[in-house]
Amino acid sequence: MAKKSINDIDFAGKRVLVRVDFNVPLEGGKITDETRINAALPTINALVEGGARVVLCSHLGRPGGKPDPELSLAPVAERLDEILDTTVKMAPDCVGDEVARMRAELGEGEVLLLENTRFHAGEEDNDPEFAKALAGDAEVYVDDAFGSMHRAHASTVGVTEYIADCVAGLLVHKELDSLQKCRDASGDGFIVILGGAKVSDKIDAITKLLPRAEKLLIGGAMAWSFAKALGKEIGESLCKPESFEAAREILETMDDDVLAKMVLPVDVHMRQVEPDTGETRYAPIDAIEAGWNALDIGPETRKKYRSIIVDEAEIVFWNGPMGYFEKPPFDEGTKAVAQALADTDAYTVVGGGDSAAAINQMGFEDRMSHVSTGGGASIEFVQGDDLPGVEALDEK
Ligand code: 3PG
Repeated sequence: MAKKSINDIDFAGKRVLVRVDFNVPLEGGKITDETRINAALPTINALVEGGARVVLCSHLGRPGGKPDPELSLAPVAERLDEILDTTVKMAPDCVGDEVARMRAELGEGEVLLLENTRFHAGEEDNDPEFAKALAGDAEVYVDDAFGSMHRAHASTVGVTEYIADCVAGLLVHKELDSLQKCRDASGDGFIVILGGAKVSDKIDAITKLLPRAEKLLIGGAMAWSFAKALGKEIGESLCKPESFEAAREILETMDDDVLAKMVLPVDVHMRQVEPDTGETRYAPIDAIEAGWNALDIGPETRKKYRSIIVDEAEIVFWNGPMGYFEKPPFDEGTKAVAQALADTDAYTVVGGGDSAAAINQMGFEDRMSHVSTGGGASIEFVQGDDLPGVEALDEK
């Protein structure tokens, strides 16, 4: 990696601001998935052991620039205090006099977690005054928040104007190294799988990755937008207007030989919703009737996608579920793709909350080449974009 990392710095006694991605799922104040906390531990432990005075900052959720007690990082501070071999204190805010005092009092090897940076509008606006206050007295900035590096916010970019040394943490280092192979990939053997609800969320990824991939497999509700744009009946299946427009734009503007590399579902698993009988049925993609809602890819599609992943792939990048993953039995398509990734000899990278969750749920983490902690960040990096958070760090 061309950027400096924590291995290039002597941290003894240094005041360090560390951007982590503690945007973890919470239910009733309880953390339901600790993956992102665990992923930051190697860097935090290295800094603690190196004698740094460690100030952690992160966003959580989308509070819209004002405090929201439900999105406090306090539960994360509590959990970190249990996990780490040092005391972890929680600050009442991320800037202000009280926080500055707590930062100044921090001893070597001690950790302070600042409150949610998105409780201030200056975070997402990348406001220079807010960034300066957040940078505070830090001598070194460490970015280990891979999942947020596609955001040009005060805590990911702005603070670097006010801190002398700005380096990557161990997670960021590992993520960039592992994803680089997908970023460089093109042609035969490069298989991309994209799922999720809306084509409009993935339009950039499709237009940038389709020309480079051997095949791009589509799943999730965005497949129904393509089906509708191709003139098929999709009944009550989810198809937001912006998603339909994005699908139509792709079909109208991209060259036919490039479009030929896009693989769409041939069948679906659907449920009757009008009338709401609760009946479920498999059907060819051409046979979705009025009153029926397609909620997953069907068995023929699973077989077809599996054979591409297992028999043809050399490098696979997967982002987004194949169906309504949260609601069994409509998780079968996503699980089938996860199984195929576990069984292939290809280099496999999974990014995005739901697809990574499917891998974790099935216990397949160790059978993937890399499971990214980033959703948007991993896809933007793989599609070839420069991530603002990476660009802001010091060159080696
Ligand atoms: C994520 O969950 O993908 C990151 O934490 C970024 O969150 P955001 O999409 O709200 O910026």
